[in-house]
Amino acid sequence: MTQKRWAKNFIRIEPYRAGEQPASDDVIKLNANENPYPPAPGVEAALRAVKTEGLRRYPQADGTDLRRALAAQHGLDPACVFVANGSDEVLALAFRSFFNSKKPVLFPDVTYSFYPVWCELFGIPYRRTALDGDFRIRPQDYAAENGGAVLANPNAPTGIALRPAEIERILSSNPASVVIVDEAYVDFGAASSVKLISKYENLLVTQSFSKGRALAGLRLGMAFGCAELIAVLGAVKNAFNSYPVDSVAAAAGIASLADGAYFARRAAQVIATRERTAAALHDMGFSMTDSAANFLFVTRAGLDAAALLAHLKGRGILVRHFSQPGIDAYLRITVGTDDEMRALLKAVSDFLREKEIR
Ligand SMILES: Cc1ncc(COP(=O)(O)O)c(C=O)c1O
Repeated sequence: MTQKRWAKNFIRIEPYRAGEQPASDDVIKLNANENPYPPAPGVEAALRAVKTEGLRRYPQADGTDLRRALAAQHGLDPACVFVANGSDEVLALAFRSFFNSKKPVLFPDVTYSFYPVWCELFGIPYRRTALDGDFRIRPQDYAAENGGAVLANPNAPTGIALRPAEIERILSSNPASVVIVDEAYVDFGAASSVKLISKYENLLVTQSFSKGRALAGLRLGMAFGCAELIAVLGAVKNAFNSYPVDSVAAAAGIASLADGAYFARRAAQVIATRERTAAALHDMGFSMTDSAANFLFVTRAGLDAAALLAHLKGRGILVRHFSQPGIDAYLRITVGTDDEMRALLKAVSDFLREKEIR
C-alpha cells in the first residue's frame, strides 16, 4: 500500500498497553490490579441522586468540591490538591508541567511502563535506573544529575515499597528538580508521602481512586503538592482540557471519601488475602517480591511464566506477564477475592503437576 503523503506528519509513538479487558464477565480477572470488591455503598446512592437535568451544565472547572473533600481528609489547604481523569491523566499533566529540562528524567528500569511513553510523547529525555538484584530502588542513584524523577511507591509490578526515610533522601538530594511519587497502590500497606509535601516543595504525590477505592471505571486521580506546583499543574490542565473531572464522577468520588470505615475494611481484606495467597504460593515452591500492593509478583525455578499465563487463561483466569528481559520469568497476579484466589491456586497446582514441575 502506498503511504498517504500526509501520513509523514503523524506522530510515531509506541503506546502503553493496558491489561486485557475481556468482553465477558465470566473470567477471573487478575490482570489489571482492580479491586475485587464494590465501591463504598454511598457511591451508589450518590449516583442515583444525580439529576440528569444538571448534566447540561459544565462541571466545576477545578473540581472544587472534590478537592475540598480530599484536602479535608489529609488536613491540607485545597490549593495543595489537584484532581483529573484518573491518575494517568494527572501523571501525564505532571510530566508536561515539571519535566522541561534537557537533563534526563530518572525512573527505575522496572516500573510502570507508562512513564517512558509520556516521555516519548512529550519529547522528554529520560534514563532508566537499574534496580538492585532484589528489584529494590537504590535511593543513591537518584542523586545523579536529572531533569526530574518519578517513582511508583509501591513500585509496579514488584509491589516493593520505599521507606519514608528513603523517599526523603531522594527528595533532599534533588532541590533543583521535581520528584513525583506515584502512590496508585499506597492503600494496601505502604507509608504515604503526602505528609512530606509541607517539608519538600519539590514533591508531587499522585494517587488514584481506581485501586483502593474500587472506582477504576470512574477515572479519578489526584495529586498533592505545594500550592506553587498545584498552580502550574492547574494551568497546564487548563491549557489542555478545562473540565477533566465530570460532575457525576466528582459526586461519586466525594461519596467514596465519606466512608473511611468501608475503605479501610476492604483494604484490610485485600491485604489479608494477599498474605494468605503469598504463603500458599510459597508452599508450592514460588518465590516473590515483598509486595505492599494489591498484587503479587511471582516466579519459580523451572517455570515457563508465559506457559503458566496461557494455562491460566485456558481456565478463564487472567494474570499479567511482561516480556521485558529481567522480569519475563515472573507473573503479576492481582489479589482477588478468597474464592478467586482458591481457583487460581488450584489452577497453578494443576499446571505444576501436569508439567511435572517439583
Ligand atoms: C503505578 C501506576 N500508576 C498509575 C496508574 C494509573 O491509575 P489510574 O489512571 O487508574 O488512576 C496505574 C494503573 O494501573 C499504575 O499501575
